[in-house]
Amino acid sequence: MTGTITFTMIKPSAFKAGYTGNILAKIEEGGYKIKALKKVALSKEQAGHFYEMHLGKPFYEELTNFMSSGPVVAAILEKENAVEAFRKFIGATDPAKADEGTIRKLYGKNLSENAVHGSDSDESAKRESEFFFSFLEMI
Ligand code: CMP
Repeated sequence: MTGTITFTMIKPSAFKAGYTGNILAKIEEGGYKIKALKKVALSKEQAGHFYEMHLGKPFYEELTNFMSSGPVVAAILEKENAVEAFRKFIGATDPAKADEGTIRKLYGKNLSENAVHGSDSDESAKRESEFFFSFLEMI
């Protein structure tokens, strides 16, 4: 049985470009319920912790520099089969390969600046939600 929760982040480039409202509207129109929401400016060290599973990969440095270059908007979303459904909904990691009409196709620029993050498993969704939100903020 798959979970009903996923975690997303609107990345600094999309936030800076003023796409937050449009992206959140699209998410809600897609049937996702926003369970928690906040704007946060991550330090490079905090971004490094969030993406620690990518430590050592060639894109780690660029990714953590970028993710700490300005505020992000973090959210916990609820829907049936949330993780898998949302990954399909936002489109491929590389915006150039994302389907037409998806958030990454509409608002992403390249692999790092791909508009939004989406959890890749139920375990990641839990870890990432708890990284950003306290128990009180999640209920
Ligand atoms: P995200 O869903 O936030 O999870 C990890 C991020 O690493 C990913 O989106 C991309 O923005 C970024 N990234 C940069 N280069 C790559 C790459 N070659 N393969 C996968 N992810 C990459």
